[in-house]
Amino acid sequence: MTHYFKTIMLLSLACLTAGSTFAEDEDTPLAKEMSAMNTAYRSLSKAFRSGPNPDQRAEYIAQVETILEHAKASVELVPALADTLAPEQKNSMRADYTAAMQKSIQTLEQLLAALEAQDYAAATERLVQLKKQKSAGHQRFQED
Ligand code: HEM
Repeated sequence: MTHYFKTIMLLSLACLTAGSTFAEDEDTPLAKEMSAMNTAYRSLSKAFRSGPNPDQRAEYIAQVETILEHAKASVELVPALADTLAPEQKNSMRADYTAAMQKSIQTLEQLLAALEAQDYAAATERLVQLKKQKSAGHQRFQED
């Protein structure tokens, strides 16, 4: 009886451990914000690749507003990579990440202003800038 009890306890423990290991693979709050801005970003990039169409301006503005909303929600969050670091490095990475995200928010606001002014050349430049910030941000702050 005692033997069975021990076996059941060990099996339960194994399940709990496996459960928490899988839980780590779930999307972080930051990954959720990033995923939420991704669809709008991809549509916008695709549209600008084939040359922006002034008739679609309202759609572009709505897409930038969506990206902006999720970028603003992302500022307060912490990259999963920072959580793997010692406190001092973690704080320094958080500060760098916040500054980088604030720059992207600024770029998005400039992109919005350019679209509102129907200045597609400026909008294209801002989108190129955002793409660079995105790549640099992922290289620096995203876990492999
Ligand atoms: C338009 C701009 C951006 C888009 C569309 C975008 C998109 C994405 C996507 C699709 C993911 C993967 C999410 C997942 O794992 O399910 C991601 C992850 C991530 N992105 Fe971005 N990203 C953008 C800009 C940035 C910037 C500027 C930074 C940093 C300043 C950044 C930092 C990160 C980090 C740290 C992760 C990993 C999530 C985590 O650590 O929890 N991203 N991004």
